[in-house]
Amino acid sequence: MTTPVNRASAYATPRDLPGRPLRDLRISVTDRCNFRCPYCMPAEVFGKRYTFVPKPELLSFEEMARLAGCFVALGARKIRITGGEPLVRAELPALIERLAGIPGLGDLALTTNGYLLADSAQDLRDAGLRRITVSLDSLDEAIYRRMNGRHYGTARVLAGIAAAERAGLRPIKVNCVVQRGVNDGSIVELARYFKGTGHIVRFIEYMDVGNRNQWNLSEVVPAAEIVERIHAELPLRPATAHYRGEVASRFEYLDGGGEIGVISSVSAPFCGDCTRARLSPEGQLITCLFATEGIDLRKPLRAGCSDAELRDQIAAVWRRRSDRYSEERAAHLDLEGHSRSRSKIEMHRIGG
Ligand code: GTP
Ligand code: 5AD
Ligand code: SF4
Ligand code: SF4
Repeated sequence: MTTPVNRASAYATPRDLPGRPLRDLRISVTDRCNFRCPYCMPAEVFGKRYTFVPKPELLSFEEMARLAGCFVALGARKIRITGGEPLVRAELPALIERLAGIPGLGDLALTTNGYLLADSAQDLRDAGLRRITVSLDSLDEAIYRRMNGRHYGTARVLAGIAAAERAGLRPIKVNCVVQRGVNDGSIVELARYFKGTGHIVRFIEYMDVGNRNQWNLSEVVPAAEIVERIHAELPLRPATAHYRGEVASRFEYLDGGGEIGVISSVSAPFCGDCTRARLSPEGQLITCLFATEGIDLRKPLRAGCSDAELRDQIAAVWRRRSDRYSEERAAHLDLEGHSRSRSKIEMHRIGG
């Protein structure tokens, strides 16, 4: 029943209400994770009794690849695999192989916490993964142990980064979510450690994703302050974006030691250029990181819809899209800087 998935030239890319095209797809392959970062899956909420998506409700790799083919036919050129933690999903390279074979796809990347990476980097690369991003919030052991909620040290993650480098998954990006009073003292050390390695550290403003992390505006360190703190010790200058809509703003070291990025979703939102669709592990199409609900694609998929029918449904959802949560954030906060919205989709289901 599967028809050839790449008709990249045969379909017009849908544009949403403000005119943004569909260009990227982020696929969350599982809502499970081996970490319990307090800003994403606080251990007291995600304990033994927490119910994750049951297996029959998860999309199979075949189903994910089929939907991905529909998105690529509609104009998506970049796919990023996320979770939860994507490497806890068994046989992940088999999915990568299917996705890498979709004609017309220009970029295939994955975001991981790195804990299981050392053992799988080469398999992922062999399957066709091109790039990898590893989360690492601090090099300070005590801070890192607290921030992953499992008391794991940094050694395995650093070994994962080294394995990814050996496997040729370059450039490697290192993501650091900055929380004031928690790890903002680690910013310069992290920048210094990776300077000159070719790896790109990106410092991310802590966001009010989901409803469980008790986010408060006072914990956000604005990107400008992050850049200032690094620049004071390791001089930087702004660099031009690689492409319109790039999530991170780039800065390069004056001495040629490489670059860093800052992701300023709170202090300088980038919704105007947002071309990202998200697919949840159970097959919901989500049009914004801060959405309260998704549109179920699993039902039509399992009901036997053709690829053309699936493409029509995806395009119709995209054409109705008007999301720009980060630009409207101020209206969602109470006087104390807490998010008033209580029904956002959780980060571990949507993958950032
Ligand atoms: P590149 O392809 O390497 O540019 O990756 P990326 O930065 O798009 O992806 P990654 O998974 O590394 O995400 C980095 C951070 O940016 C995470 O905190 C994401 O939640 C955040 N992010 C990614 N896309 C969006 C978006 O559309 N809106 C907002 N607000 N944040 C986003
Ligand atoms: N704010 C900003 N970034 C976050 N991430 C997870 N939760 C948040 C949050 N509340 C990051 C992860 C990972 C990426 C996908 O999103 O650390 O690097
Ligand atoms: Fe897991 Fe990533 Fe969430 Fe941490 S931020 S709990 S590693 S999904
Ligand atoms: Fe896109 Fe929503 Fe992020 Fe804005 S807040 S950039 S619309 S995902």
